[in-house]
Amino acid sequence: MSTTRREFLKRASAAGVGALAVSALPESIISQTQSAVKPVAISSGNGIPAVTKAIELIRSGSDALDAVIAGVNIVEDDPNDTSVGYGGLPNEEGVVELDAAVMHGPTHRAGAVASIRNIKNPSKVARLVMERTDHVLIVGEGALRFARAHGFVEENLLTDRARQEWLKWKENLSTKDDWLPPHTPDDKDIGAMFEPFFRNTGTIHCGAIDLKGNISCVTTTSGLAYKIPGRVGDSPIIGAGLYCDNEVGSAGSTGRGEANLINCSSVMVVEFMRQGKSPEQACLDVCKRIAEHNTMRRLKRDDGKPDFNVNFYAINKKGEFGGAAIWHGPKFAFHDGTSARLLDCAYLYKK
Ligand code: GLY
Repeated sequence: MSTTRREFLKRASAAGVGALAVSALPESIISQTQSAVKPVAISSGNGIPAVTKAIELIRSGSDALDAVIAGVNIVEDDPNDTSVGYGGLPNEEGVVELDAAVMHGPTHRAGAVASIRNIKNPSKVARLVMERTDHVLIVGEGALRFARAHGFVEENLLTDRARQEWLKWKENLSTKDDWLPPHTPDDKDIGAMFEPFFRNTGTIHCGAIDLKGNISCVTTTSGLAYKIPGRVGDSPIIGAGLYCDNEVGSAGSTGRGEANLINCSSVMVVEFMRQGKSPEQACLDVCKRIAEHNTMRRLKRDDGKPDFNVNFYAINKKGEFGGAAIWHGPKFAFHDGTSARLLDCAYLYKK
């Protein structure tokens, strides 16, 4: 008997399943149980409440997917996070449209919704797409009808704060249109775009390893602020805004979704980890790939570097973790099973 097999028997016995002969267990379950030592959770910088909730649930026996969804639901419900769920910044017409996806490692299934309106917790709807349909992605009106069919309550997701931000954007887009910000009779050229104008691409991603060593993840967002109605970002696209392979690890992203859509970034992070790269190096190498593929002058600074940011968060099967961004600045949330902390993302460039 190998050492690891002996260790497994010892652990299984301690866990009260010692009566079950190891030979009776499928190899996959044996390997899952052997790695079942250290629950961890990773999230974007807005994800301290998410990783805290996820680990609390995992410690009480939850599957990683249940845990990460419950974690991000806290942020979806929070009106003060203007990048996710209720209180998210709206599209150019002032309507909040949400994207979300989930991926379950042990069954390698996924579900997603895109451009869904009036439903506060798109991650829960995404999960139902995975569990209660033969599809992976449902969008727009179809996604709303699907949510209604499952009893979700519709509500106005546009908070007063988000509406005022949107109005400020709309009134300051141009001096040539008819929307005017507050002004005096003496003002001329009213409504010139003021700088810097923050267009939110914030989002929350959360990935975790549970007590069985299984890995799952979720990404949920209100997407790019003031987007064209119907615009879908990377968050609900499996392989772009998140990806999970139960034998390797998981990855997810926040930032400019279009860059991830054309680079299939999250699956690339996981594939780099499969090749043996650390989570942080895998995230950094995908940042490099995005920068190399950034051909459009309008998306480059004068020195040729991308004029946008993309951030990645990854964990591998061993519970190792890392976060990286194209540009210095973002942080990520990590819970090691004992406590949650915010850490600096590695980065390619510093301004
Ligand atoms: N990464 C979020 C979005 O672009 O929609």
